[in-house]
Amino acid sequence: MDDPGIFNQKSLSLWLKDGLSGSIPELTQDIACDVCIVGAGITGITTAYRLHEAGLKAVLIDKQEPVHLASGNTTAKFTFQHDLIYSRIIKNDGLDKAKLYYQAQMDGLNYVRSLIERHGIPCDFKETSSVIYAKTQKQLDDLLVEKSAYEQLNIPHEIIGDIPMGIVGTGGLKVPGQFELNPVKYLNFFISILQKDGMPIFQNTAAKTVEEEGDLVKVLTQNGHTITCNHLVIATAYPFFEGGGMYFTRLEASRSYLTTFPITQAADDEYMMISSGEDTYSLRFSDTDGVKYLLVGGQGHKVGQADSEIDSYNRLILFARSHFEVDEPAFRWSAQDYKSLDSIPYIGRLTAKHHHIFTATGFNKWGMSNGSFAALLMTDLIRGKESKYEELFSPSRGEVKENIGSFLKANLDVAKEFIKGKTAPEEMTLEDIKNDEGGIIKLDGKRVAAYRDKSGELFLSDSTCTHLGCELEYNNAERSFDCPCHGSRFNYDGKVIEGPAMVDLKRAER
Ligand SMILES: Cc1cc2nc3c(=O)[nH]c(=O)nc-3n(C[C@H](O)[C@H](O)[C@H](O)COP(=O)(O)OP(=O)(O)OC[C@H]3O[C@@H](n4cnc5c(N)ncnc54)[C@H](O)[C@@H]3O)c2cc1C
Ligand code: FES
Repeated sequence: MDDPGIFNQKSLSLWLKDGLSGSIPELTQDIACDVCIVGAGITGITTAYRLHEAGLKAVLIDKQEPVHLASGNTTAKFTFQHDLIYSRIIKNDGLDKAKLYYQAQMDGLNYVRSLIERHGIPCDFKETSSVIYAKTQKQLDDLLVEKSAYEQLNIPHEIIGDIPMGIVGTGGLKVPGQFELNPVKYLNFFISILQKDGMPIFQNTAAKTVEEEGDLVKVLTQNGHTITCNHLVIATAYPFFEGGGMYFTRLEASRSYLTTFPITQAADDEYMMISSGEDTYSLRFSDTDGVKYLLVGGQGHKVGQADSEIDSYNRLILFARSHFEVDEPAFRWSAQDYKSLDSIPYIGRLTAKHHHIFTATGFNKWGMSNGSFAALLMTDLIRGKESKYEELFSPSRGEVKENIGSFLKANLDVAKEFIKGKTAPEEMTLEDIKNDEGGIIKLDGKRVAAYRDKSGELFLSDSTCTHLGCELEYNNAERSFDCPCHGSRFNYDGKVIEGPAMVDLKRAER
């Protein structure tokens, strides 16, 4: 396929094209509060709002601008239809737990609806039905098992033979009453009203580590300040502080891609859809600022483990062009999310011994409902209320024992990537790196992460991940260096973007 030119531009989501409104300061002094929330995506912002509603004095910080990671780069489908989760939970954990998972998602979704209605939030809210569609007979058989799970859980649904949007397949499982919106418009609203109500919100304020002193928690920031609080909420997607919770052995980082096309043909925009199975295509529409857009996403893979990230985008563009009358994508972007061992998020106390530190992660690319629900659960726990959901989502639920196969597979994969990175010979040299290209090269016998910008300036960094020492891979679509072990990513100049790594790459010298 011809390069449509979109890869010459930086990755930018449709939602973030206008940025956030209003200005957000950086923390410049030590402060104290009831609850410090670290991470301003949907989880952190919704939790901040919920705690504020409950009358607690909260502070929200983010290492960059709020909403710039997964929550500003999501597809933003608000649905309880999470792949084939219900049959999986019934099989592994029983019907009662599947019921609780469903109720949790409904609580999250109903909370979002109620907030939008109460405040009249202008966020391009649209009611839709959600459809998982099957491409093969085997996938349809699996969908029928999921249908039977819906029956046991009294989830309203319908099996459909004709898949909307003219997609060819073997059938679909449809649920009504879901919705979609513009996540940046939605979350920006809460930032504005919380600021107006006097809640301190700080950007460019990265939490570095945590110290506990009796019942107090101290969050030490990278810019040298301390936030002293009674409770800490870690809403950083991958927890920036693990507290011995071994999250790196229990979370798998997966990246996915999105392309967006202006579309004028009549479209089945009352649906949001996702294909079943590994080779995922996810579809929705959005009316944004007077333009109708088709969004085609998917093609996920473990972070740092794709042969070419540009090819992932190209498959989405090909899919869009072969099903719709569309031409060039107006926007393209990618993002990542984390999956727990049993596909149920980790929401609650960071570990059994941390009574004042909470986290929410492992949303498996379903964080719109899960992140909203997490705000409700964590607020209840912080206020000392009992919750029927605590055990199911507890990060200390002991899921490793029951999922030992997935645990070993994930950690063997890490070991394999670690060894592969140390032994694979580099074929590229400095001369192979053209302007606006990068790669892992061999320089003076050593592996080096190299990128040359559009003007020819060269950036050389150590190619070893600062988390636990795996070797990085070049991401040719985002011009970043990504770690195949636990999903850390570094900018072309070696600065940490996301994931468990906290320290930038060292500069490499020629
Ligand atoms: C491509 C893609 C499509 C998706 N589509 C959907 C969908 O349609 N529906 C759905 O339900 N879910 C979807 N998801 C999942 C959903 O987007 C995520 O689960 C959700 O956005 C996670 O929100 P979060 O607030 O937990 O994390 P994030 O949005 O990633 O926010 C974490 C924040 O923490 C900050 N941070 C990190 N470290 C620090 C630190 N040390 N100090 C201070 N701040 C820090 C970051 O800067 C960031 O702003 C999708 C995910 C992807 C990747
Ligand atoms: S993210 Fe763990 S070694 Fe790189």
